[in-house]
Amino acid sequence: MNIFYMPLADLAAILLLLCIIYHLLRLLKTIGFHAFYTKIKLGDKAKRLPPGTMGMPYIGETLQLYSAKNPNIFFSSKEKRYGPIFKTHILGYPCIMMSSPEAAKFILVTRADLFKPTYPASKERMLGRQAIFFQRAGDYHAQLRRLVLRAVMPDAIRSRVAEIDAVALSTLQSLEGRTVNTFQEMKTYAFNVALRSIFGKQEMSCMEELKQCYYTLEKGYNSLPINLPGTLFHKAMKARKRLGQIVANIISSKRNQQQSEVDKGLLASLIDPKEALTDDQIADNIIGLIFAARDTTASVLTWIIKYLAENPEVLQAVKEEQEEIIRTKEDRKEEKWLTWADTKSMDVTTRVIHETMRIASVISFTFREAVEDVEYEGYIIPKGWKVMPLFRNIHHSSDFFSDPEKFDPSRFKATPKPNTFLPFGNGSHSCPGNELAKLEIRVLLHHLTTKYSWTMAGGKAESGMEFGPFALPLNGLPMTFSPVHA
Ligand code: HEM
Ligand SMILES: *[C@@H]1O[C@H](CO)[C@@H](O)[C@H](O)[C@H]1NC(C)=O
Repeated sequence: MNIFYMPLADLAAILLLLCIIYHLLRLLKTIGFHAFYTKIKLGDKAKRLPPGTMGMPYIGETLQLYSAKNPNIFFSSKEKRYGPIFKTHILGYPCIMMSSPEAAKFILVTRADLFKPTYPASKERMLGRQAIFFQRAGDYHAQLRRLVLRAVMPDAIRSRVAEIDAVALSTLQSLEGRTVNTFQEMKTYAFNVALRSIFGKQEMSCMEELKQCYYTLEKGYNSLPINLPGTLFHKAMKARKRLGQIVANIISSKRNQQQSEVDKGLLASLIDPKEALTDDQIADNIIGLIFAARDTTASVLTWIIKYLAENPEVLQAVKEEQEEIIRTKEDRKEEKWLTWADTKSMDVTTRVIHETMRIASVISFTFREAVEDVEYEGYIIPKGWKVMPLFRNIHHSSDFFSDPEKFDPSRFKATPKPNTFLPFGNGSHSCPGNELAKLEIRVLLHHLTTKYSWTMAGGKAESGMEFGPFALPLNGLPMTFSPVHA
């Protein structure tokens, strides 16, 4: 039957039915639909759920979370009302959010076996199902972690410092004399460092196309997952396919090279014949790694640049530390590019990096899913529910950081208590790239603070934030950078 020929009477009946359904839903909401619904599904266990509200049927509290200009307000007001463990319902999933160091340790470290990583299916499809972050505990995950770590741990990256040094210098030179979107420029920097860490030093003609595909992929990453011609999602999926082909071509050319020619890097680590990974497994992990490495590092750098511009005494202290490194190298007649040892001597700078990661908390939470009913502190976390450790709430708690909203790098003269400072997570899925991330940030800051001055375009700091999905200064922090000649 064609819908356009539906007799009017039927149409009226359908409208009436829709009205009734609508009012029934409203009624269910007022009498507590979720309490009712969870009781049916969970029986007595429902009584042992943590406090909190589940919002409207199906959509839950998604709107409250996303309509707030700043999702952190949702998390912190919930915590204020219900304490460090509360339930909610977002994006179609019942969730338990937790904001204590003990809970983070329980979920990520001591009982990580009870929780598996979980991402929306559309994101898995876009990055590649066989990428490291989607894997449950087991042999394949352990193997990938070993291979990634072997390419980005300190022993592997110490020989890359000079190379990263050159990338940082040329990035900064390219900024001179124009107003830039700081975040976009830092993304280019982190992208170039990531590509070198993956493919090694040699220039490859396909890098430009690879970058273009990547930019298309990210445009579709947070769009509605509707795979129809013309949508951003569709374009992103096409770009993802092309990325797979580009990486497969690189893999086959490297596989055919003499082992000695293969530059050390993540790709070399993954194509090691002893590991017997398929091309798809390698491609999913390379594409995923770029994703994990780029925007995170770039947003931390953007926040640091903003905080340094707003805190002249802190900037001065960083500058002095960095100039001292240059003087020492001159006195010792060392080569002028930075070494691993130089980057390890940057205590003041490192405290600024840590304080920025605390206060900006660019990864403000993560997701896991309970693989069975889990008991925690007398509460029950039902099987299949999402569990979210709220890093940002922990980082902004006055229980662990006095005057938490204040930017004060000196607080990191003392080591934070275990599981109170988790910018890189903890446990078996914690960030394997943390040393590389800190290295590239230190190197860029060295050149920035000794060779440049910078001012926020339009005068004083834009105070707003945007989320894409990482917290960022509004409009990516428009800035002008000018060389200072000593
Ligand atoms: C400042 C920059 C960075 C921050 C703040 C950051 C943060 C994080 C966090 C919090 C996690 C854990 C997520 C979870 O437990 O669910 C993670 C995982 C990961 N990060 Fe980073 N990251 C950064 C840079 C990098 C870099 C440069 C690389 C590349 C080498 C990288 C590669 C990864 C990978 C592969 C994982 C998944 C590990 C696994 O599932 O076993 N990250 N990152
Ligand atoms: C991760 O958890 C372990 C075990 O609780 C703890 O010793 C360690 O300090 C934690 N790491 C961080 C960065 O807090």
